[in-house]
Order: sequence, then C-alpha cells, then structure tokens
Amino acid sequence: MLNPRYILHTDVDLTALSRSAAQYWIEQAEQAIKQRGVFHVALTGGSSPQPLYRLLAKPEMAENVEWSRVHIFIGDERYVAHDHPDSNFGMARDCLLDHVAIPDKNIHPMPTHYDHAGEAAEQYASLISEIIPSAAGSAPVFDLIMLGMGDDGHTASLFPGTDILLNNDKTVAAVYVEKLGCWRISMTYPSLNQARQVMVMVSGENKATILAHVLEKGSELVYPIQSVLPAGEMHWFIDHAAASKLDQLSS
Ligand code: 6PG
Repeated sequence: MLNPRYILHTDVDLTALSRSAAQYWIEQAEQAIKQRGVFHVALTGGSSPQPLYRLLAKPEMAENVEWSRVHIFIGDERYVAHDHPDSNFGMARDCLLDHVAIPDKNIHPMPTHYDHAGEAAEQYASLISEIIPSAAGSAPVFDLIMLGMGDDGHTASLFPGTDILLNNDKTVAAVYVEKLGCWRISMTYPSLNQARQVMVMVSGENKATILAHVLEKGSELVYPIQSVLPAGEMHWFIDHAAASKLDQLSS
C-alpha cells in the first residue's frame, strides 16, 4: 500500500512528466507570491530536473512567473567552481536562470570558493536565515524545495552512511562523500522538513525497486530520502519506468 503522505504524479516519460512538474512549480510560485509576496525555492541538481528547467525558461512558461518576486536557492552543491561541469548552480544557470528575468540579487548559489566546505556551508546557512524568516529555533521555511533521488536512495547530498544524516543542529552542512571522492554542501533534514512543499522528480527503471520500497506505507527506514517528511505536502513526479514496480503496492 502506498504511503498516504505522498502525492504521486506519474507520466509516460521525463518529457511529459516535466510538463506537469512545470505546471506545479508555477502554481506554487503564484500561490506563494499571492499569499506572502515572495517565492523562496531551492533547486535540485542532477539530470532529472533539466527538462523542467528548460521548460520554465521558455517564454510561454516564463511569462507566468513574476520573477522579480522569486528567490532562487540551491538545495545541494558539489564543492566545485560554478563554471565546473559538475556544478549544480552552473547547470541551473545554463538551463533556466540565464534565460528568465530574475534579478541577480535574487539568485543565491551555494558558495564554493572557501578553503573549507564547512565554512561555505555556514555562510550559506546564514544567508538563508537573513532572507527567509523562521520561528525561533526552527529552520527557515522554504515555499518549495526540489529534490531528486539517486539509485542508492540519497537525496540532495544526504548519502547513505554519511554523518550529515545525523546533523540536526545545522540547516546546511558539508559532507565528504567517500564513494564519489568529493566534498559536497547540502541542506539537512531540518531544512528539508520545514518546507511548505517538497517535490521529488524520479525517472528511470534503475530507481524502480528502491522507489517502490520508499513509497510503500510502513516500509523499513533504509534510504535517506525516507526521512524527508516535510511539514507540508510531498509531491512525487515519477515516470512510468521508475513507477514500474509500484503496481504491487496498489493491491
Ligand atoms: C546532485 C543532486 C542529487 C540528485 C540525485 C538524482 O547533486 O546530484 O542533488 O541528489 O538529485 O542524484 O540525480 P538524477 O536526477 O540525475 O538521477
């Protein structure tokens, strides 16, 4: 049985899925701006969101967003220069940010120029708290946090077996990912779980088995993404290949 906490959107492939994801993204922006005058959103890295970003950059889509009232953050980053091919910010800038009328002052990449990733993480946490209001002792509340899911069940840079999974003191932290041999900066569970809305994009057959486990009600907590339990809604945008093992849950 599917976990009733999750709201699923499925479509035949990533192209079709990106259209419904773009519509959802625009609706969240409109709602946040209408209610609070601003839309605070954290973008995800990886490959799955790229068609969505390119769609949002198209004039017929971009015209539906009041970009001057959008503040863009990054949910996690590889600790490389922003012009490095691995940079999540660089990807978001190429696919979306360079093509829409968002003021530069509203674009907040994770800094990657400090000697130590930990210092960069602290700086970013301070920046977020300066821009986004939060209740005393709580993490800032994003209107929307975008995530993906790796084929090991990681999300953002919350990888299995890493110490960042236990970090409930900070909203952003640095983590050395042994299996990738690199430093990353990532929002932590306190940040992710304060969000009004979380959307996860999952595409591909290689994720079907883990996804079925993750979405099943009451399944054992094995994968990092299972501990993302936002205060608000959690929407899953899943293509048919990734959803191929879900039918066993509907029975
Ligand atoms: C990153 C992402 C990461 C990504 C997953 C899924 O920095 O790579 O933040 O968490 O969302 O690895 O990536 P794909 O969408 O490319 O499968």
